[in-house]
Amino acid sequence: MPDGGRRRCLKTLVATGLGGAGLLRTLPTRAQAGAPARFDRTLPLPALLHGQPQDDGTLAYALHAGGGMSELVAGLRTPTWGYNGAVLGPALVIPRGRPVDIAVTNGLPQGTTVHWHGAHVPGEMDGGPHNEITPGATWHARFTLEQPGATLWYHPHPMSRTGAQVYAGLAGLLLVDDGADRRLGLPHTWGVDDIPLILQDRRLATDGSLVYMSSPIDLMGMQGNRLLVNGREQPHVNVPAQWVRLRLVNGANRRIYNLGFSDGRVFYVVASDAGLLAHPVALERLRLYPAERAEVLVDLRSEQGRTLLLQNHADSSDAMMPLFGRMADAGPTQADLLQLRVASPTAPGGRLPDTLATLPQVADATPLRSFNFDMMLDPFDHMTGPGADPDRSGPGGMSMGVGGRPVFSINGQFMDMAVINHRVRLGATETWEVRNTVLMPHSFHVHGTSFRILSRNGGQPPQEERGWKDVVALAPGETARIQMRFDQLADPGHPYMYHCHMLEHEDNGMMGQFTVT
Ligand code: C2O
Ligand code: CU
Ligand code: CU
Repeated sequence: MPDGGRRRCLKTLVATGLGGAGLLRTLPTRAQAGAPARFDRTLPLPALLHGQPQDDGTLAYALHAGGGMSELVAGLRTPTWGYNGAVLGPALVIPRGRPVDIAVTNGLPQGTTVHWHGAHVPGEMDGGPHNEITPGATWHARFTLEQPGATLWYHPHPMSRTGAQVYAGLAGLLLVDDGADRRLGLPHTWGVDDIPLILQDRRLATDGSLVYMSSPIDLMGMQGNRLLVNGREQPHVNVPAQWVRLRLVNGANRRIYNLGFSDGRVFYVVASDAGLLAHPVALERLRLYPAERAEVLVDLRSEQGRTLLLQNHADSSDAMMPLFGRMADAGPTQADLLQLRVASPTAPGGRLPDTLATLPQVADATPLRSFNFDMMLDPFDHMTGPGADPDRSGPGGMSMGVGGRPVFSINGQFMDMAVINHRVRLGATETWEVRNTVLMPHSFHVHGTSFRILSRNGGQPPQEERGWKDVVALAPGETARIQMRFDQLADPGHPYMYHCHMLEHEDNGMMGQFTVT
């Protein structure tokens, strides 16, 4: 693209952004949306799905992707998509070592897939773009998990439409259960002292419908202005005055969370993406990039009768936020997400152990492969018309966005389902280097395995990142080395993906494929 073109496009971009008033006029203000008192509504709790034992010992689960109406924001009705309900989905509890059969039925008007994010399953069962389920069809995912207990999640992964379908409401938790939490005495009573929190954001029109990709800046990653927890804005949850475990999942398309409590209290991180840490890590703030998870313990033993807020603070590593703020309503830089109301303790209470897990030692190593997040050739060229190609086949006529454009690349390559970018030997342990040389943050994810972060910018990663991971956050300018073993097969017909988990980056090129054979 010649420079003149870039300037012209940039001008359009800025004009559209500043004239964003025109665009934002259809977006309700908080008052219009009728949001009454904050924290009035309770936190929705995903149901646990334990599976039906079959004669051969397999546990059978059923997920049905379909639509419904949700009240994400008080006073507004929003058409959404969900699994076994209007929005989000049940939490699948999968015992380690137990064969499972998950029947996924596609009740949507378009193709979808379901990916088991963080699960060590063969490429054929991974639910990536090659596992498309056509409308009305049922796909059976059959696998056995042999990995540590962890808070994983599942979400759609169709080519170029992952962002839109997740935004429409499709996502759920997958809990690998190895009994370690009970053995250790960690809080484990679901919805009482063990609370899952799926963090997401959305933009809504005045009629309540979901607004996806309405500003040119949204192509840099969709951020909404309404911050939801388990599909509800500013809910409250009743918790006992004892140790409480929060399973934090960044399920947002692009938003980076920087979490803390209103009184600045210390909390203890006990697990990262894919398993328990060796020891609890005390923090006042925890940063989660898209698709990252953490389990934290909060000591509420002497808080009976009090309330506490879980808050999100602006993340200084996100250089893009001021631009988002100018161009679209990307939400407040500081927000109250959830109110915890501390009631009397219930028996039995959990505890915070000193030692959680034994993790293999890792040491820095020379990388075998490297992955550079590239600046797109001319982003502005692609950013001027997100609405130009609106496929409004999402819930309530939601736009499905503009995936499939060559905007973001890895090592200069855009995602192509017909190209295998890397070939890994089955059983190999590899070190990869991931480099973010551009001005925007990225969130790198690898399918089919869990990794350890060997180094971050040449130094030790922070304590809370020293456990099992499947996503590594990369702020602008950052480089990380990760190491993992590939124990599952992925043939060229069903390769694994590696990609940026900022979903509009992924949908617009920032993804590649590898086989394990
Ligand atoms: Cu959570 Cu390839 O995705
Ligand atoms: Cu994944
Ligand atoms: Cu990215």
